[in-house]
Amino acid sequence: MKLAIFGAGYVGLSFAACMAEAGHDVLCADADASRIEGLQQGQMPLHEPGLEALVAEGLAAGRLRFTADKCAASMHGDVLFIVVNTPADAEGEVDLQHVMAVARSIGQHRDRDAVVVCKSTAPVGTAEQVEAVLRDELSQRGAVHRIAVAVNPEFLREGSAVRDCRQPDRVVIGAADPAAIDLLTQLYAPFVTDPTKQLLVMDRRSAELTKYAANAMLATRISFMNEMARVAGHAGADIEMVRRGIGSDRRIGPDFLQAGAGYGGSCLAKDVRALRHAADRDGQVLRILSAVEAANHEQKGRLFDLMTHHFEGDIAHKTIALWGLAFKPDTDDMRDAPSLVLLERLWAAGARVQVHDPAAMPNARAIVGERGDVRWCDTPEDALEGADVLALVTEWPVFRRPAFARIASTLKTPAIFDGRNVYDAVEVEAAGIAYYGIGRGRSVLR
Ligand code: UDX
Repeated sequence: MKLAIFGAGYVGLSFAACMAEAGHDVLCADADASRIEGLQQGQMPLHEPGLEALVAEGLAAGRLRFTADKCAASMHGDVLFIVVNTPADAEGEVDLQHVMAVARSIGQHRDRDAVVVCKSTAPVGTAEQVEAVLRDELSQRGAVHRIAVAVNPEFLREGSAVRDCRQPDRVVIGAADPAAIDLLTQLYAPFVTDPTKQLLVMDRRSAELTKYAANAMLATRISFMNEMARVAGHAGADIEMVRRGIGSDRRIGPDFLQAGAGYGGSCLAKDVRALRHAADRDGQVLRILSAVEAANHEQKGRLFDLMTHHFEGDIAHKTIALWGLAFKPDTDDMRDAPSLVLLERLWAAGARVQVHDPAAMPNARAIVGERGDVRWCDTPEDALEGADVLALVTEWPVFRRPAFARIASTLKTPAIFDGRNVYDAVEVEAAGIAYYGIGRGRSVLR
């Protein structure tokens, strides 16, 4: 099939590369001309494992091409995917200008029938708005092409985008048009093992809401576990044991139960906010989601609270080694990262910070600049030199099995604040290092 993909961000680019790998002829468009120029030379605008090789393979095979020309992309292929960003403001109001700009362009340039697929996360009713814009543009120039609009939300995660694209748990297709359903079913059939169970066809509004409900559920699980971690810490229980205890119940399942420094990233917080805001406008008060947001906000301050307790309120002039900045491992994405909250609090309290992150330092630097006292370090060990204590914020593999003896001999007052509960408290303490986890019974703030 020939596919046009509008948007070369995490989702658009991963999707485009995977579709090219599957043998389709893919033209990927983005309004950012410098991003497109880079991609044409195989330069990646973001860090995503496996994606660079896949893009290079697609380029070499001639199956993946990039363009900044909206008109050319609007004319390309049978199915046109809208995968542009849909930011939400602080209130949760979603900005659909990029989605509508693509719809307008397709309506202005398309010279034959097409299926347009909304893949961007967008509020319920957006597909209908896209359809109205297309109809309006077509009628203005007297065109009579049939353009069906479908919804096909994307559930891939940063850090495992390629794998998630190749092997989705399920594919949601929101459409009423039989030709659109047929085309999307054909397109996705090779990516699932059991199409009868994994291809879920539904109406467009349900498909749009499915995406928000999925992210809201994931955020709820995390905030719930962070709240249980608080209970565990006070009660002298270990949240890691509790996680295993409940995750083995098939009704609950083991995933997304990891207590930690709070959830970050470009999606969970934004989508919870947008869902709550949209419901609010309809006169519905979403009490659970309000609590999920409030709990996450508080959780991002948790590591700082543990440190304040450890230093008995006197953090000024202390030097904190910080391992990890990205909102999760295997990405350079700093959007809504819990590390940003920790940095701001440490600086406000007068602390110095020495950080290392395998990929996110350039992005972090662009956000925080030299606002506080910070040293950007090339290695995890470098960040430890001269520091009082160590905090782990992002569980990159390189941080998972450190030499505790070396940490003990390097830190001035050896203590580890484990914001992702990756270390074994017994092993850490046996090395002569004080251990603080999130909701581990051995930690303070009981
Ligand atoms: C999320 C959704 O998972 C994905 O389906 C959707 O398409 C986009 O949003 P992403 O933001 O890439 O994906 O990362 P995810 O793996 O969901 O992690 C989000 C945040 O939650 C991270 O900060 C992570 O550290 C945190 N998290 C995740 C926890 O604190 N505990 C967990 O158990 C899982």
